[in-house]
Amino acid sequence: MDRILVEGGRRLEGEVTVSGAKNAALPLLAAGLLPEGPSTFRNVPDLADVSTLLRLLRTMGVDAQRLPGEDRHVVRVHAVNGITAEAPYELVRTMRASVLVLGPLLARYGHARVSLPGGCAIGARPIDQHLKGFAALGAEIQLEEGYVEARATRLRGATVRFDKVTVTGTENVLMAAVLAEGDTVLENAAREPEVEELARVLRAMGAQIEGAGTDTLHIHGVSRLRPVDHAILPDRIEAGTLLVAAAITGGDVHVRGARAEHLDALLSKLREAGCSIASTEAGLRCRGPEVPRPVDIQTNEHPGFPTDMQAQMMAFLSVASGPSVISENIFENRFMHVAELQRMGANIRVEGRTAVVKGVPHLSGAPVMATDLRASASLILAGLRAQGTTELSRVYHLDRGYEKLEAKLSQLGARATRVK
Ligand code: EPZ
Repeated sequence: MDRILVEGGRRLEGEVTVSGAKNAALPLLAAGLLPEGPSTFRNVPDLADVSTLLRLLRTMGVDAQRLPGEDRHVVRVHAVNGITAEAPYELVRTMRASVLVLGPLLARYGHARVSLPGGCAIGARPIDQHLKGFAALGAEIQLEEGYVEARATRLRGATVRFDKVTVTGTENVLMAAVLAEGDTVLENAAREPEVEELARVLRAMGAQIEGAGTDTLHIHGVSRLRPVDHAILPDRIEAGTLLVAAAITGGDVHVRGARAEHLDALLSKLREAGCSIASTEAGLRCRGPEVPRPVDIQTNEHPGFPTDMQAQMMAFLSVASGPSVISENIFENRFMHVAELQRMGANIRVEGRTAVVKGVPHLSGAPVMATDLRASASLILAGLRAQGTTELSRVYHLDRGYEKLEAKLSQLGARATRVK
């Protein structure tokens, strides 16, 4: 298993470019099931979760692959008429976002058999809201032997009010509704930029959707969709992670592709902590303080503070000049990075969904273990600041959601290397 070594104490400086958004690529590749011709997606990040979804699509008989000769960031998805609409457990359990094939399969083929994703490290993560939406559109849903069997001769438009805001739930039901007969309203919908990106691509395919980016989506079903050629938007969470890398090292970094309008909540907390952040024509420039000021954080659905940036901010605030209170309101178990940060000298106390982070004057490099995707990033960020060397194991967690993060950081002057 690969490990990443980080030698701390170096200010990051220079310019880095953000890759395409993982959490947009996954629903978009699933949306490639909807039209009858081959779609091309560009700026697709080269990372494990994308490879897993491509493998899943191929097991269903879909032509889904990175185009040869390209820089591995161009993907074609072409679902012909005779495919096997089944997603097996061994693939779904490694990446729960595989459930995103449910909506498109139901809409295009009228049936799907998809393994229930099961929980993951950060929480139970049920899909009851996805299934509630499909049932409202007229699908027959059966749960047996850990699989969801969904059938519908033709989906019919309906009003769906989500009990909880769910990003992939909104995306899944939206992808079903675009080919349903009649009108659908999705209430209490997710407002993430990745949901807007999916709606943008579905409209380019010929879907009729209003209200993307708000909590109410209006869809008028159409009978067929056409393939697209689309370049995916930059990854705002990777952008945020790189901004925090500049902040925690007291550096000065220009993150090309970072978009202020997708990161408002994060930027205001970084500024509150003493960072100076400026918009440029190509992204965002972040200069970090010598010592951050403490700030309190509540994670929430977009446009609130993103839960996917909570672990990274905790690393940054662990060296602040006072105590910060961080509340994780989205997932029930997203503090597994705390124990590893404590091994590096952080002073953090967890009470339920709240962590009190008392700033310490410095962190010490140590061997630490990744437990989930964003925890991995948090530990690398802490390693950039720590005195000495940090060795991160189980980096397969990191590789699920970041494309060569250690190379990007090295480009900015960090001493971060991957060892086999
Ligand atoms: C998406 O996951 C992201 N993944 C996650 O990013 C992100 O953390 C999360 O949204 C929240 O922003 C992708 O987009 C592929 P949810 P998702 O459904 O859609 C509960 C990363 O690090 N819920 O919005 O699975 C659920 O348990 C990953 O890149 C239900 O109760 O998250 C959670 O507590 C991690 N029933 C809350 O809602 C449901 O049917 C939000 O989950 C669905 C969700």
